[in-house]
Amino acid sequence: MTLQAHEEEHYQKLRELTPECMVLLKSNEDFPLDGPQLIDLYGNGARRTIKGGTGSGDVNVRHFTTIEEGLLNAGFKIGTTTWLDSYDEIWQKAHSEFCDNIKNRIEKEGITAIMLGIGAVMPEPEYELATNGNADTAIYVLARVSGEGSDREAVKGDFQLTTTEINTICHLQETYEKFILVLNVGGVVDLSPIVDKVENILLISQTGIAIGDGFADVLLGHAYPSGKLTTTWAKYEDYPQIGDFAEIDDTRYKEGIYVGYRYFDTVQTTPVFSFGFGKTYTTFDWEVSEISRNKTEIRLVTEITNTGEFKGKEVLQLYVSVPSGKIDQPFQTLAAFKKSKELQPGESETLILTFDIRDLASFDTKSSSKILESGSYIVRLGNTSNQTEPVAVINISSRTLVQKLSDAGGQPDFEDWIPNQNIQDDVLPDLPIIQINSDEIPQIVNETHSSDQNIRDFVQGLTNEELAYICLGGFEDSGNNSFIGNAGRKVAGAAGETTSKIENLPALVMADGPAGLRLSRKYYRDETGAYSLDTGSFESLMEVLPDSMIQLLGLDKMKEQKIVGEVFEQYCSAIPIGTAIGQSWNTDLAEQVGNLVGKEMKIFGIHIWLAPALNIHRNPLCGRNFEYYSEDPLISGKMAAAITIGVQKLDKLGVSIKHFCCNNQETNRMWNNSIVSQRALRDLYLKGFEIAIRESDPATVMSSYNLLNGEHASQREDILETILRKEWGYKGLVMSDWVTAGLSGKSKNTYPSAIASGSIKAGNDLMMPGGVHDFQDLMKALNSTEVTYPITRVELERSATRVIELIVKLSGKNI
Ligand code: BGC
Repeated sequence: MTLQAHEEEHYQKLRELTPECMVLLKSNEDFPLDGPQLIDLYGNGARRTIKGGTGSGDVNVRHFTTIEEGLLNAGFKIGTTTWLDSYDEIWQKAHSEFCDNIKNRIEKEGITAIMLGIGAVMPEPEYELATNGNADTAIYVLARVSGEGSDREAVKGDFQLTTTEINTICHLQETYEKFILVLNVGGVVDLSPIVDKVENILLISQTGIAIGDGFADVLLGHAYPSGKLTTTWAKYEDYPQIGDFAEIDDTRYKEGIYVGYRYFDTVQTTPVFSFGFGKTYTTFDWEVSEISRNKTEIRLVTEITNTGEFKGKEVLQLYVSVPSGKIDQPFQTLAAFKKSKELQPGESETLILTFDIRDLASFDTKSSSKILESGSYIVRLGNTSNQTEPVAVINISSRTLVQKLSDAGGQPDFEDWIPNQNIQDDVLPDLPIIQINSDEIPQIVNETHSSDQNIRDFVQGLTNEELAYICLGGFEDSGNNSFIGNAGRKVAGAAGETTSKIENLPALVMADGPAGLRLSRKYYRDETGAYSLDTGSFESLMEVLPDSMIQLLGLDKMKEQKIVGEVFEQYCSAIPIGTAIGQSWNTDLAEQVGNLVGKEMKIFGIHIWLAPALNIHRNPLCGRNFEYYSEDPLISGKMAAAITIGVQKLDKLGVSIKHFCCNNQETNRMWNNSIVSQRALRDLYLKGFEIAIRESDPATVMSSYNLLNGEHASQREDILETILRKEWGYKGLVMSDWVTAGLSGKSKNTYPSAIASGSIKAGNDLMMPGGVHDFQDLMKALNSTEVTYPITRVELERSATRVIELIVKLSGKNI
């Protein structure tokens, strides 16, 4: 096996970064181990380790190390090979029954039921298998997978542990001298039945190709975990049950802003593990040495010291309790965070945490503006959300207007839930006070981008048909197999590209994300393009599709391995999933990972990476939470910005931050209507996107499939033009999610599909991957009065201008 030049280098880099994404949840100091030894390995993730979730976020790698392999590579001997073999048989049997069931349903229900296949996850089966190893130490690797197209369920074998898992884990804890539970999961699992019994728990998450070796490094103390949770871990019934989740048509976000720790801290429910929690092998102490203000920026200087006996890194988290005036507030909100460098025992570092007071402003629905209420803002510092200490008070003299905004986003048919606030006031020690007068807080004003005159002139010379082609992806008139996100012809396995129909206008090539680049491993080329020879990330889908459907989607061509001429190879690196990157709480790490992907984009000829994805973990059951960073918008926005910077600092590369917006469930994802208040929309769901745009200027934004308050996100001009461009000053392009309009007419849903005319009219400039039906729709809608979304030539020119601006920027071609 000859590795391509980048593979070894990127593997080593990811192996080095992996432990930082892992979270130590419990420790009795039995680990790390002194050296490789005989070990008894159990659990569904031991051999069938999950490197990342399924769907478009999957990455077709050459190989990744499983936990079993990682241990063997490190010199361990495994005493439970028979257990692992027997488990494999049990799994295979359960899996083939599961696939047959789905196949039958798809056969009966037709193509729309394909969603059943995308992301369908088999719950972990119950079984009886004796745990009969002889080693002193045992490891149980508990795995869960989820993916695009389906939400998880609060049932045994998915969100909950099975009876087999609970019994086995408790038995191992009781019988082995040393035992560790290892969680190879992309999201939360309910650990409440075992958490008090098990003494060592390590969340290794799903960290891509180097997961097995990375885990072995941690087990041997060559590396150490330094992650913190970015989402609250609790029993399902303890999460807010006020709003809807996974409804088919309308999903009401009635809990408003009270999501995650904003809810748990305010209603004072203790979760299993709180937001921001993560242990280290050592202990840290910190002291605030200085608190100051420079205009609207608050600066906290801290000295952090490693007071234990092992090296490590710590994350300082700064929260603020914002006073409730006319606008209700959660107990506290994350305002800044900083991770230390590696500190040796006794070593100290100065960590500076800063934030702009205006970022704590809340959306006031009555005046459609961002407001800072008058009163005392209590600044709290800690290393987990439910253990923070007040360190300062900021007094704002009077109610202050921070930014005048619009009432964009639509209206819900309910008022947001507000909890009874019964939190005791802190007995505040003598704290430093920072006084800010209202007139010292300047209003935020963003400039709107005006497009390039040369490009506008060029666009005016184009025909209507040419404009339409530019606003649609690179479709072929004969139709292509674009339903499953492999519409690219320039690069095999790429998700799509811009048009090749206009002379002198090069096509931009796009590939998924977010866990690395999703391309085909093997392909051939002819005069019409590059064609995949491997089913890669569609394998799990193909297992559940009837043959007729496999043919319809053109997947059989990949399966046949039809070799025409030379076979080429492309091997990309799977990086840690979004949640794992978030768990590092390290924006430098995120930037390095983004840069690594950027280098692979250069190698394989990709212009736009369809990542990072930064929807909020509103509910722990969302099937795509693993792709997203956190329940908190600051972490989400900062991580997305760092990744974007990592990619875009390489010349002529861009990202597409997604899915904009309120795409927080997978159930009926193309036609589900998220009903959200303007306050929750602004302060929670849009905030991460706003941060990412302000800090990193992503080349493109991908609109989401779902509706927001009755209209598809891609068809909401108030979101795309008013909020994104006018209020935030966004300069880039907005593209649709894949085949948003492709299923028009096929929907049996309450809401219609989004369509090209509606989307272009609203400022969604590019329909991806584009299709003949989109072209026909645009031609029909142009200057018509008889369609739902009539469009004018000016609107089409506006979008085409933005597409060409991007082509010029990323291809370097002048027009
Ligand atoms: C997903 C996107 C992805 C696109 C292209 C869609 O189904 O929602 O996240 O980028 O496919 O593969």
